[in-house]
Amino acid sequence: MHSYIRAPLFCLILLASLGIAAGARAAETLDVLHWWTSQSERKAADAIAEALADEDVTWRDAAIAGGAGVGAMKVLKSRVLSGRAPDVAQLIGPNIQEWADLGLLLELDGVARKNNWNTAFFPSIWSLVRLRSHTAAVPLGIHRINTLFYNRRVFNELGLTPPKNWNDFERVANRLQHAGITPLAQSSEAWQVTTLFETLLLSESNPAFYRQLFMSNSDRAWFDPRVSRALERLRSLKRWMGEPVTEKSWDSIARQFAHGEIGMWVMGDWAKGELQTMGMNVDDQFSCLPVPGTADYHLYSVDTFVMLVGDYDHEIAQEKLARLATSPAMQIHYNQIKGSVSVRRDADPRQMDSCARSSWQTFGRGAQVQAPSLTHRMASNEQLKDAISAQIHRYFLDDTIAISETQRRIAALVRALANRKAEP
Ligand code: BGC
Repeated sequence: MHSYIRAPLFCLILLASLGIAAGARAAETLDVLHWWTSQSERKAADAIAEALADEDVTWRDAAIAGGAGVGAMKVLKSRVLSGRAPDVAQLIGPNIQEWADLGLLLELDGVARKNNWNTAFFPSIWSLVRLRSHTAAVPLGIHRINTLFYNRRVFNELGLTPPKNWNDFERVANRLQHAGITPLAQSSEAWQVTTLFETLLLSESNPAFYRQLFMSNSDRAWFDPRVSRALERLRSLKRWMGEPVTEKSWDSIARQFAHGEIGMWVMGDWAKGELQTMGMNVDDQFSCLPVPGTADYHLYSVDTFVMLVGDYDHEIAQEKLARLATSPAMQIHYNQIKGSVSVRRDADPRQMDSCARSSWQTFGRGAQVQAPSLTHRMASNEQLKDAISAQIHRYFLDDTIAISETQRRIAALVRALANRKAEP
């Protein structure tokens, strides 16, 4: 028998011995690193994993616990450096560009073209995943950070009206406190403190100033009175947070909220996903409002997956995941569980609850109302984010640190990291 005949026969025997019947497709596995470990995050990830399984691709989970991906980013870096890169990773914001520049990411130009991503997505989503005319990431959903959750049962019992401005907020908080309910939930974890701070900053300013502060590396902007006012409010809100403010995971706060121990909570709308998974419904047991002073703005974080090239041996499965996760049906299904909103412009707002509708419609107004979250990695590199966050955290924990001192420290850090002399 000639070798060219023997080869296919040999292959068939090999396939049979591996238990793969002729005609059946070989299942592929994708190793997926992300930081979705709360109940709703898990459920949302599972929704994508199940759709993938229907296309013969197994999602091997490599989740790393820790809100805002604090641990996951470290694990991702160390896995890549030690040659054990996952096939898919949750990587967001400007990090995508840094990783693409290192040649680590698979280009998804074919999937993007076939599925008309350029017109299907909101323009700012499309530009987020585009680098030098290539598509480098898969957008999953848009989270709104400037969200104020309030507990409807508690509000109804006390006859309270949801606060539209800071004066209302103070009045409502006072009433809640008298009723023995913690007016405002807060953890002292650094990322949760900075999440509140960036929202307060937007409330005192606007998206243009927000971008100037976090994206233009301007040290002078840190001395602006709008920054002092945001810092002042951050400190003054402490009196509504219950004593002492301790380190709590965001999903444990969601449980307290569900038990009626908390009146209000400023958190990204992944919290909505979690409350729903606990059996609470929007506009029934709870509702969301934009944080006072931010109704016209959208402080956002966009969850994105990148595909790591490796040996290019999972390309087909990676492209399947990219296509599935952004399909109109999966966008509705996944975002409904996750608490975020669709990255697609053709989504139907009638299928959304009131929180999602407000978020999606506000985001849709375009770049002038959008502010990229510093804390959630949309505005700057990791270094600057961590440096700013450490100072805000310190200020929040220690009431003896003066506002002006915090401004000075951050301005100096910004200057040092941008490697510049003081601005005149
Ligand atoms: C991510 C969300 C996640 C949240 C809490 C944010 O940075 O964008 O997807 O649910 O962190 O971990």
